[in-house]
Amino acid sequence: MHFPEYRARRLRRTETLRSMVREVELNTSDFILPFFVMHGNGVKNPIEGMPGNFQLSRDNLLKEIDEPVRRGIPAILLFGIPEKKDPLGKEGYSDKGVVQQAVRAIKDTYPDLVVVTDVCLCEYTDHGHCGVIHKGEVDNDPTLDLLAKMSVSHVKAGADMVAPSDMMDGRVAAIREALDESGYEHTPIMSYAAKYASAFYGPFREAAGSAPQFGDRRSYQMDPANSDEAIREVGMDVDEGADIVMVKPALPYLDVIWRVRNTFDLPLAAYNVSGEFAMLKAAAQNGWIDHDRAMMEALTSIKRAGADLIISYHALEAVRILQGDRPKGIK
Ligand code: PBG
Repeated sequence: MHFPEYRARRLRRTETLRSMVREVELNTSDFILPFFVMHGNGVKNPIEGMPGNFQLSRDNLLKEIDEPVRRGIPAILLFGIPEKKDPLGKEGYSDKGVVQQAVRAIKDTYPDLVVVTDVCLCEYTDHGHCGVIHKGEVDNDPTLDLLAKMSVSHVKAGADMVAPSDMMDGRVAAIREALDESGYEHTPIMSYAAKYASAFYGPFREAAGSAPQFGDRRSYQMDPANSDEAIREVGMDVDEGADIVMVKPALPYLDVIWRVRNTFDLPLAAYNVSGEFAMLKAAAQNGWIDHDRAMMEALTSIKRAGADLIISYHALEAVRILQGDRPKGIK
């Protein structure tokens, strides 16, 4: 293709022409919207660093889910903030747990909404790590039983899909086996397969109260410098029975999304995490960036990199725009 026979600008002249040759497009059905649920009534605590997001009690959660459902967002991802934390994260796998109760209420009200639950101990343990502690370290194998128990209890409450985010080795197989033994062989697992030890989870840990009380997560989450290892991690989860694999975070790891897309043919999710969301909001609040355009560009880049599903706190704002209903100002 050479100038002047080829002129790349010919197909850029009008919006109609551009729309005809556009390679990727965001759709409402691409999105999964995260929520944080806690005990109590009438609770709606704003989350600093994540404008427009709240810690919600069940009653308010049900109200907040109304618009996403009406607009056709197919799925939510649920995180729980327990009443009490302990070394083994017991509320995480209790039938009376905050997530279990919320799932029952959501499925009663919105039976067609796909409710995905995050499976991890860090919100429920007093030390804030994603597994049980033995001699000052996160002990992999004893954690697997607890994650399996948590998964079964979420599904028993009505969860449509479980999403383990702990990064213990072997957890997808352990969860698959436990679900199958309990008669839930039809329930899919979306595994956080390549999850990096990232600074971009900062605002989330405030929201979920899940910051580690000692050390950090680098002995179980991935080193940001590695992408060959991401292929191995995803491969393990595929072999263990994952139905959807995820790369997390999204924007600083678009190359990893692209590599996973080109290596595996499973549905691929990407998690546009709290820190990515917070950066955009902060810049927009300062008037330094056009919020809506930057948001749609960022989300499009995740889709272009190869993600089929995008987990994002922007999901509702983005869907409003896709449906021709631009909100005024930033949420
Ligand atoms: C729990 C979990 C985290 C996130 C999702 N599940 C935090 C972490 O690993 O510390 C981060 C989500 C976000 O930042 O939006 N393990």
